[in-house]
Amino acid sequence: MADERVRRVVCPGSYDPVTNGHVDVITRAAALFDEVVVAVLYNPTKQGAFPVEQRASLLESALEGVHGVRVETFANRLLVDVCSDVGAQSIVKGLRGGTDFAYELPMALMNRHLTGIETVFLPGDPQFEHVSSSLVKEVAAHGGDVRGLVPDAVFEALGAATVSDAS
Ligand code: PNS
Repeated sequence: MADERVRRVVCPGSYDPVTNGHVDVITRAAALFDEVVVAVLYNPTKQGAFPVEQRASLLESALEGVHGVRVETFANRLLVDVCSDVGAQSIVKGLRGGTDFAYELPMALMNRHLTGIETVFLPGDPQFEHVSSSLVKEVAAHGGDVRGLVPDAVFEALGAATVSDAS
């Protein structure tokens, strides 16, 4: 008899702001699993470049039409607790290359140590290998053209914002 459990995963991140690399990974996760919770993790005492509500709304507009995806925000939580709260069986992360893997592997092992949750790594699309939220902010803050690297709404928001936190 088929297992009818919903296969729900969490795609966590700061998303400050969402890039087209994130959108690609989330969209591919949505094709593999029944439900994707895009978890925007933030520190309420540390102001990012974009307020968390705006990060979430930019994600929602970028992911409009992608079936089975919802966006939620979480202040100062362990990722494993977020996963328990939303009933996710695994975590999905995109990897742009070996540097990402070196950064992500200890976190994946720690999360599995804590609750047994597995992390599924998806290879990032090579066209976005050089794209990160921090680089996009830095380039945009100095007048560089980041069109095509971020959703259109993010491109407009970057133009409107005084992006002082390009870290
Ligand atoms: O987009 P980012 O900044 O690379 O996302 C990093 C994030 C938020 C996914 C990571 O810092 C995280 O999982 N934070 C939650 C706190 C936590 O669980 N820390 C222990 C990880 S083993």
